[in-house]
Amino acid sequence: MNWRIFGWGIAALWVITIGIMSTFLVQGHTRPGNDGRTEIVLAPSERDLVLAEMRDLLKAVHGVVTVLGAPDQPIKAAEGAARAAGMAMAADVNPAIMLKLPLAFKQMGMSIHKDMDHLADGIAQGESSVQILNRLSSMTARCTTCHDMYRFATK
Ligand code: HEC
Repeated sequence: MNWRIFGWGIAALWVITIGIMSTFLVQGHTRPGNDGRTEIVLAPSERDLVLAEMRDLLKAVHGVVTVLGAPDQPIKAAEGAARAAGMAMAADVNPAIMLKLPLAFKQMGMSIHKDMDHLADGIAQGESSVQILNRLSSMTARCTTCHDMYRFATK
């Protein structure tokens, strides 16, 4: 047995394993979709969970813009709507789903939750409607970017 070759063999296996693992972590469980977007393959229940979270995100945006347009409504309601979609919403994400999501998807998703908390803080600190709308616009830009990039599939 030539131990030097054996050692290089082990090192090469390590490099290949780490390469495959990091590719998987970056790409998630994806394939090209037929409408030009990248398809993320999830189990049906996982897809339902993420889509339910998406609808909650839209409700948060709706809650904030509705209060902005109705100055007689308590600003606390807008703060609450934004806070509901903050990092607390991301806290219970299932690790099995996280493994299937591509890195860019997770980064955009997390940044939305973080910015929802910042938005709630800004509202609580009495920011103007224009400042709040600018925060919302920076977030809805990410909603649309991600929607243009990805779709879900279950098979
Ligand atoms: C990290 C990526 C990403 C971000 C960020 C994102 N979405 Fe989504 N969203 C998706 C994907 C993927 C789908 C499923 C699209 C498909 O399968 O055609 C989706 C679907 C939805 C749906 C449909 C839900 C259903 O029941 O069918 C709504 C509503 C939605 N998103 C709202 C939002 C809003 C509002 C934001 C921003 C505040 C947002 N999303 C940000 C990726 C994202």
